Amino acid sequence: MQKRTICNYNYDTHLLDSSVMYICLCSGVTDQQIREAVKAGANELHDLQRSLGVSIGCGTCAEAAMQIIGTTLQDSATQDLVARLSHAA
Ligand code: FES
Repeated sequence: MQKRTICNYNYDTHLLDSSVMYICLCSGVTDQQIREAVKAGANELHDLQRSLGVSIGCGTCAEAAMQIIGTTLQDSATQDLVARLSHAA
């Protein structure tokens, strides 16, 4: 069975790309909305399901949403570390 691809968005370079991409077509949720939800405290797919309705329909978006959660949490951790290091210097 061939896997369907909704988009070819590169999650690793999202900080360089300011365009908005719909991740969950069933609920009309964008990558930006997911990143904002993660910054507000959502850190699991279940949180996004409750707050934004991500992955409550066909479920095709689940993997992409989890990748965005991961990269956003990594970015936040990196920014926190840089802030702490700059205060310590
Ligand atoms: S695309 Fe997200 S539930 Fe269908």
